[in-house]
Amino acid sequence: TTSLRVALLGCGVVGSAVAARLQQHRDDFTARVGAPLDIVGVAVRDLDRPRPESGLDPSLFTTDAEELVTRADLVVELMGGIEPARGLLRRAMEHGASVVTANKALLGEDGPELYEVAEKQDVDLYYEAAVAGAVPLVRPLRESLAGDTVHRVMGIVNGTTNFILDKMDRTGADLESTLKEAQELGYAEADPTADVEGLDARAKAAIIASIAFHTRVRTPDVYCEGIMGVTPDDIRAARKIGCVIKLLAICERTADPRGALGVNVRVHPALVPRTHPLATVHDAFNAVFVEAELAGELMFYGQGAGGVPTSSAVLGDLVQAARHKVRGGRGPGESAYLALDVHGIGSA
Ligand code: NDP
Ligand code: HSE
Repeated sequence: TTSLRVALLGCGVVGSAVAARLQQHRDDFTARVGAPLDIVGVAVRDLDRPRPESGLDPSLFTTDAEELVTRADLVVELMGGIEPARGLLRRAMEHGASVVTANKALLGEDGPELYEVAEKQDVDLYYEAAVAGAVPLVRPLRESLAGDTVHRVMGIVNGTTNFILDKMDRTGADLESTLKEAQELGYAEADPTADVEGLDARAKAAIIASIAFHTRVRTPDVYCEGIMGVTPDDIRAARKIGCVIKLLAICERTADPRGALGVNVRVHPALVPRTHPLATVHDAFNAVFVEAELAGELMFYGQGAGGVPTSSAVLGDLVQAARHKVRGGRGPGESAYLALDVHGIGSA
């Protein structure tokens, strides 16, 4: 069988976990896909950095990502940031590659344009890992619930801030030292202000709302307040009234008094009663509730950050895209868009 050429863009926390698994379980992937997956190159910035955890042959590393994406059937983008990731994904798709990305910053900003390129080029664009790490949420919303009407999606979608708030609550630790720990564990973004200021959760909320409500919500449309203002005193005060503080992302369908549909998408710290299931979400775990008309209430829970858990979602997407390369067909694509008004907090 002809093998499929896989290019990795980035070999950091998530990229190295993906590379290691692909090599260690090569035969499993071949069986599941129907063809071997060959890593043909790995784009990084620093060629001198040793990367033993990736298990990759050093000859595979390159700084020429532009060239690499032109000789791959499947491109997995795990470098983060807007550029050059955006240009590289476009270029990869224009050369006929299907792409997998975990880049919520990019999708929140420019998702619709990229979906259009995928549509035009008739290739897959998968991004399960961009929302809630290992937790399957994108695929259930895009596929399993495609025949239902989702009214509300709400939950904890940032592992770093949950880790920090949980540690502050349980041990009385301060925000700065706990953030350092989250960085060491590979939970935080390259620039961790994206986590603590709520920007990462905000991008994820935009992506979730876009899929759940078949509309286009971009990151700047989402009201956002991070956890920088949350003090140990706030946490003690919450405790006194039987609550914990959690950073929540809330995406709701709304209707104005005349019945015009809209969406309200916001991210902010919230008081959660200790008896609520969200209060028991510890460490870097995520939990997301979905309310749909037919299905009723659904709950998704699991590890929302970290290289190895996140690699599960990336590899699931890669297998799916690779199967399409072998057997034909395509993933769900984006559903028809409704032009809904997007409101910030407080407006309905
Ligand atoms: P890291 O910072 O650990 O790794 C980034 C990798 O990309 C590095 O290997 C880096 O190269 C490479 N890179 C960055 N910029 C360039 C560039 N301009 N050209 C070539 N290579 C480049 O990030 P993570 O692995 O943590 O995150 C990757 C993506 O996954 C991000 O989009 C992030 O938001 C997302 N994500 C991360 C999760 C996590 O828990 N960490 C969970 C879910 C999603 P070099 O090593 O040489 O510096
Ligand atoms: N920095 C992100 C988080 C990684 O802490 O949730 C997972 O998207």
